[in-house]
Amino acid sequence: MFGAVLHFNPNSARATYGRAMCLDRLAEVQSSNSKLEQAIMTYRQVIDLADEDPNLVPLPLLRLAAEKCIERMRFRGFLGKAIRVQQRLLQRFPDDLGLRNQMGVTFLLMNQAPAAKEVFQEVLQKWPNDGFAQVHYGFVLKTSYNNNSAGAEFLRRGIESGAEGTQDGRFYFHLGDALQRQGLENEAYEVYDNGVEKGLFLNRYQRSLYNVDRLTSRPVWTLEQTTHQEFFRKLEENWEIIRDEGVALLSESPADGYRPEAENLRDTGEWKQYELYSRGRKITANCVKAPKTCELVKYAAATGCKRGQIKFSVMMQGTHVWPHTGPTNCRLRAHLGLVVPEGLRLRVGQEQIRWQQGKVVVFDDSWEHEVWHEGASPRLILIVDVWHPDLSEEEWKTLSPI
Ligand code: OGA
Ligand code: MN
Repeated sequence: MFGAVLHFNPNSARATYGRAMCLDRLAEVQSSNSKLEQAIMTYRQVIDLADEDPNLVPLPLLRLAAEKCIERMRFRGFLGKAIRVQQRLLQRFPDDLGLRNQMGVTFLLMNQAPAAKEVFQEVLQKWPNDGFAQVHYGFVLKTSYNNNSAGAEFLRRGIESGAEGTQDGRFYFHLGDALQRQGLENEAYEVYDNGVEKGLFLNRYQRSLYNVDRLTSRPVWTLEQTTHQEFFRKLEENWEIIRDEGVALLSESPADGYRPEAENLRDTGEWKQYELYSRGRKITANCVKAPKTCELVKYAAATGCKRGQIKFSVMMQGTHVWPHTGPTNCRLRAHLGLVVPEGLRLRVGQEQIRWQQGKVVVFDDSWEHEVWHEGASPRLILIVDVWHPDLSEEEWKTLSPI
């Protein structure tokens, strides 16, 4: 029917908008990307109409169409297109705070930190007390510019504003982290406790953000508790074979297999990892150079763990890894000691773990953990993630990869 209206009145903004809504709904019902793309184009036609002749589109309708258009473009992954729509709209509504903030969010989704920073900076010049812009600006400063003090300050003010969009686990997570990295432990745990109260974290130490709620939670696990003990015993029995492959790869040239840890978790020192499996998929180029290890780790709960990895981890003396928390409670993390000098410590929650050559230790890395290497020579371990034993094989299939 909207089509019929448009046949006789091609410039009807309302009919165009109605047609876009129908396509949008059809896209959802049919899970159809092509319908979704038609819906996006049709929403954009409303904006085009307003550009041709502002009298054709009432302002509230223009806003509505633009919001839907941007939201659907983001959903489809058309981030560059979304930015262009947002820029066009800002020319028309330069004082629209929400629109400007949403453009900053799109830049964040595009991993364009400098552009996002600029947008939120501009917003805060004009609206210095806008909580939404504060948390996002603080987030960018902390995560992309390593500015813990200013980052924490903006995150704190934004969170305290209580404004819509500010009560997100990621903001509490990075505020606490920024405080911990400045040595402000008590303040950090206050933030974490507030996060627990808001239901954003499982507990003050367990701050993963992709969780299944009912899972048994403890920082350190015995091999028996994991139910995967037979697999871990097999790794222990073959530890020297695994060690030999891991060590040999250290002197490989070109030495491109071991990659520096890339999540900005190090305070001091050097820490590299050689990935064999990630998100339940084999890294073939690396596995061909560690064939025996890759054979030994074949075990559905490990190689099929879409929320984990299998990798060698080498850490040089003098390294300190900041307290940190993995992304999900759906995996348990096993460490097989391969080359373990004196002087190493791993804290998980309030417990301590010590590595031993040829021995597996298991912890839940969704709990805060911290590593110190105060020894005299490099340390090498094999990290093997396994599905949490409370998850069913049906859940292994349906949980999204991380
Ligand atoms: C981890 C971790 C430190 C290390 O496995 O999650 O932080 O020493 N490991 O490899
Ligand atoms: Mn870790």
